[in-house]
Amino acid sequence: MTAFANISACVFDAYGTLYDFNSAAARCRARLGGKADELSALWRQKQLQYSWLRSLMGAYVPFWQVTGEALDVAMRTLGFADPALRADLMDCYRNIDPFPDVPGVLARLKAGGVRLAILSNGSPDMLAAAARHAKLDTILEASLSVDAVKIFKPDRRVYQLACDHFGTAPARIAFVSSNGWDAHAAQHFGFPTAWLNRTGQPRENLPGAPLHECRTLADLPALLGLGSE
Ligand code: LAC
Repeated sequence: MTAFANISACVFDAYGTLYDFNSAAARCRARLGGKADELSALWRQKQLQYSWLRSLMGAYVPFWQVTGEALDVAMRTLGFADPALRADLMDCYRNIDPFPDVPGVLARLKAGGVRLAILSNGSPDMLAAAARHAKLDTILEASLSVDAVKIFKPDRRVYQLACDHFGTAPARIAFVSSNGWDAHAAQHFGFPTAWLNRTGQPRENLPGAPLHECRTLADLPALLGLGSE
């Protein structure tokens, strides 16, 4: 079954969807005294909260700064006060690892003629570093950043950036995010959306229920009518 119809481009969220934000703390696990998972969860929670709060406050700063400020509060909360550890965690975040299913599936989509881009809160420098590290820079057509509109997801102006880049209506752009709130907001904006529910989360109660839900990126080629091989 071809679930998405008449799609010309596929746009991905970055952190949590293509890039594994837990990989940063995992790489420093030995120095985190059994608190790596807790730190990573709190870091992510604060990073997202601060992005939403700064958007509401009209106080945008690049996501790299938000990420550092979120890490500071997470470290403080868990009793870490080590500038070298902080620097190394930030360095790992900049050179974040992709999920294992990412390179193969993206290459398959590109070979099938689908135009590919990221649309992320990430600042342009961190998105460029991540794409280079993951060797996605030659597969992705662009890593579009909210920095162009100076407000974070889920503001509608952010999703509009993908329409502007591809010069097409939202209905022709498939959007993929593992973040439930982002998937709802993208569908609500007008993108046919797949919620890549990597960790089996319950559905969100928000407008814009995503058209599809999948557990692995490997389902995506079939959803786009390409078959799995
Ligand atoms: C992003 C965040 C939401 O990449 O994960 O935009």
